[in-house]
Amino acid sequence: MTTTESAPQHATGPTIQGDVRLDLRPIGVNHLAIATTDMKAQLTYWAEVLGCPTKALYWMHGIKGTFHGFVELSPESYVAFVQHPKNSPDIQLGVSHAGSAGGPVTGGAMQHLALHVDTLDELLAMRDRIRANGVQVMGPIDHGFCQSIYFAGLEGLSLEVCCGRAIDERQWIDPEVTELCGISADELEALKAPRLREPSDGPVAQPPFDPAQPQMDFGPGINELLMARSDGDTWDNASETTPPVPLRE
Ligand SMILES: [Fe+2]
Repeated sequence: MTTTESAPQHATGPTIQGDVRLDLRPIGVNHLAIATTDMKAQLTYWAEVLGCPTKALYWMHGIKGTFHGFVELSPESYVAFVQHPKNSPDIQLGVSHAGSAGGPVTGGAMQHLALHVDTLDELLAMRDRIRANGVQVMGPIDHGFCQSIYFAGLEGLSLEVCCGRAIDERQWIDPEVTELCGISADELEALKAPRLREPSDGPVAQPPFDPAQPQMDFGPGINELLMARSDGDTWDNASETTPPVPLRE
């Protein structure tokens, strides 16, 4: 990325130019990144079994020896595979992988991944395509607000395809489980209708390091350096927008 046009943008990186909804929230998963030790096998499985085309396969900018591949669910949603030279092939059930949609796994690790289709007919057709590729499928199962099939991906991935939408929270938030989670009635109201901070007048400064807050881990000493950089420096120096293959007319 070339430097931005104006001095203020250079100092701060991009700035908000238009109106932003007060109830701003993420509206989908742009990409879920999954580690792999066999890019070709994963891309092939996702193409042949699930029908997802490969849309990108290129070096991960700034990460030595690491490349990533993106398969498309929709133009707004992808699954990315990341092949780092130090990725481990060791699957530890209950630690690194859950093994099934009901298995235990380390907190923060993926339990299972559910992919969306629009209709029950499409779900059944997907089940048949998966089975036609030799992969065993459990289901469909009707969960009320969605219907699901379950199966395994490569490298121990626990996968689901489901259809359904618009969960009615009045029916599906169980008071017994809510209490078990230590959530009070008032806290539950705030969870159902988030009470958001008012937007600031301008860019918000990077908060100081706080060990009580979650931290990224780039390695010893690196986090401090990266978090101390201005947004302008990060935008100018970490951005890489040139595709690996130039388009020919
Ligand atoms: Fe699920």
